[in-house]
Amino acid sequence: MSDIIIKTPEQIDGIRKSSQLAGQSLIMIEEFVKPGVSTEFLNNKIQEFIHDHGAISATVGYNGYPKATCISLNEVVCHGIPSADQILKEGDILNIDVTTILNGYYGDTSKMYAVGEISAKAQRLIDVSKHCLDLGIQQVKPGNYVGNIGFVIGRYAKAQKFSVVYEFCGHGVGIDFHEAPQVDHIARKNTGDIMRPGMTFTIEPMINEGRATTRVDKNDGWTARTSDGKLSAQFEHTILVTDDGYEVLSDVLGDYK
Ligand code: MF3
Ligand code: CO
Ligand code: CO
Repeated sequence: MSDIIIKTPEQIDGIRKSSQLAGQSLIMIEEFVKPGVSTEFLNNKIQEFIHDHGAISATVGYNGYPKATCISLNEVVCHGIPSADQILKEGDILNIDVTTILNGYYGDTSKMYAVGEISAKAQRLIDVSKHCLDLGIQQVKPGNYVGNIGFVIGRYAKAQKFSVVYEFCGHGVGIDFHEAPQVDHIARKNTGDIMRPGMTFTIEPMINEGRATTRVDKNDGWTARTSDGKLSAQFEHTILVTDDGYEVLSDVLGDYK
């Protein structure tokens, strides 16, 4: 509880700049997401972009993780490792997740992409997962419980007949990659830590078409897939608790203004 870092204005400025760069990299990559392209190519483009802007990726070497991004295709829930022999094809959906370190500050954001035409059910899963993030963000204000983020996400996802991954969570971020608090995406009302101005954390709900459970690949130790092989989708932003609500630090499109 008391171990949640309240950031200074100077730290907030640094976290905002880093988050904006991560967000820009997700926009930059959009035009390259098409059939025939490898996930490694997308990873390398993003790595080059963040290096060109004076930052590094937080994921390279993080607990032995090998790449600058996580790219999670179709039934992959999170932590997909980009690879030269993973080639995008028409109808795929994917999440690209970027965490930057700029001047020592961390910014963490991810979004979904569609490869050409996708199925109506895949599109609905993407739309619902984006709305889950937005509902969670709307809960961010001083005095509210962190658990209410997961409460509204869980309620909405359930009403849409989708499930919420509980084995991976959002997290405090900014001075370090993963800080307190833990941000559960499914939770009981009025539980968990209380939000205070100056806290920065991610909200990053992973929403599954079928069952909520996941399985981590035994060979690479990272890739988390749905245990039933059905689709999963995720959006992530880095959020600041302000004096009267929130600022979405990784929002580069003005979606939350
Ligand atoms: N960016 C991911 C998150 O949202 C964490 C990736 S850790 C890695 O928390 F090692 F898998 F890259
Ligand atoms: Co995160
Ligand atoms: Co992330």
